[in-house]
Amino acid sequence: MQPLPPASARRYSRVMDLDHTHPSIADLTARARRRVPRFVWDYLDSATGTEATKARNRASLDKVLLRPAVLSGETVPDLSVRLLGRDYPLPFGIAPVGMSGLVWPGAEPSLARLAQRSGIPYGLSTVASRTPEDVAPMIGDQGWFQLYTPRDPKILADMLGRVKAAGFHTLILTADVPVASRRERQRKGGLTHPPRMSPRILAQTARCPAWALGTARVGMPRLRFMESYSDKIGPLPSTQHIGYLLRTSPDWEYLARVRQAWDGPLVVKGVLFGEDAVRLKDAGADAVWVSNHAGRQFDGAPAAIDCLPGVRAAVGDDYPVIFDSGIEGGLDILRAFALGADFTMLGRAFHYGLAAFGTPGAAHVVHILTDDLKSNMGQLGITRLAEVRDRMWTPGA
Ligand SMILES: Cc1cc2nc3c(=O)[nH]c(=O)nc-3n(C[C@H](O)[C@H](O)[C@H](O)COP(=O)(O)O)c2cc1C
Repeated sequence: MQPLPPASARRYSRVMDLDHTHPSIADLTARARRRVPRFVWDYLDSATGTEATKARNRASLDKVLLRPAVLSGETVPDLSVRLLGRDYPLPFGIAPVGMSGLVWPGAEPSLARLAQRSGIPYGLSTVASRTPEDVAPMIGDQGWFQLYTPRDPKILADMLGRVKAAGFHTLILTADVPVASRRERQRKGGLTHPPRMSPRILAQTARCPAWALGTARVGMPRLRFMESYSDKIGPLPSTQHIGYLLRTSPDWEYLARVRQAWDGPLVVKGVLFGEDAVRLKDAGADAVWVSNHAGRQFDGAPAAIDCLPGVRAAVGDDYPVIFDSGIEGGLDILRAFALGADFTMLGRAFHYGLAAFGTPGAAHVVHILTDDLKSNMGQLGITRLAEVRDRMWTPGA
């Protein structure tokens, strides 16, 4: 074997170290919690209400059991998938997370580079702290863009034009945020828009020097894409960010307008029920994304994984279904595929990785998921992800 060049060798040994010290996403989560100020942690980790839906996502994923194989011989897992006309080497991507740059300085460029290097999609949020133009040079061909729908049709047309010109090819319309949710834990954490350095926040920040230094270097994150339209509205209250002031709650007519204006793949995110999925399919969506927004919007929602079979049954076998909400490892990805997903996305996990170790931490999440997928596919004796649909276990079987 050729010796690795020094930089790659260093990167390689870093990944190998992390694999021993922090082999799971739970390990990265624990470290992330210590490395970011409390108000940032509460923003990233919280859900809404009593956070029962967030807990339900985890509990229901754990209940999905699969049948391991006996004497299946040697298997070489193939993790590649084809989705929306493209080939991806891995069956997961990075879900849109607003204000990623608050979680870790420079998060969006880091994640964009990681997406390009790993060949996985990255959904940039409308309320990211960097614009599509900022991120375009790093993201290559892996750019999906997540749309929070502006009220003004001129702003919509301008946004879509900019996103397209920046090279983002897949549009995600988020349908499960008709209004702001209360997110009680996040409120108590003291986050304002834009973040303000009150004595309490300063005290929290002083305890997290790596976050503080990084933030001092790149500046406090702002909603730059949204702010480029701020001349259209008046002064901002600190309790609501500009995103909420510019946008409207989309309806079916709005979807039709977006469908007409966007000539690439259109994915509708935040779908839980078969009848909605069928109506979206009929309205021209190219895929639905089963998600309960990780419990951040409505605390009375069922676990997203429990809704997946109903959506799959309703839309039929050939229609793309993406899944997120609560994935913490390769096994969870297999569970989602078993219940009908064609692709999975993760929001928090990549940000826990970033907050734990910066860019290498997010890269480590890709490694954990990949390695865990291969290991569990070996246990199941399957070579292709689609085969897991036949490996569900039900009591008595
Ligand atoms: C801090 C945070 C911010 C988010 N911001 C957005 C957003 O701007 N747009 C969006 O469609 N979804 C947003 N989401 C939801 C994610 O895209 C995704 O649905 C969810 O995080 C998936 O669950 P997981 O975090 O358990 O992987 C956000 C999630 C988190 C944790």
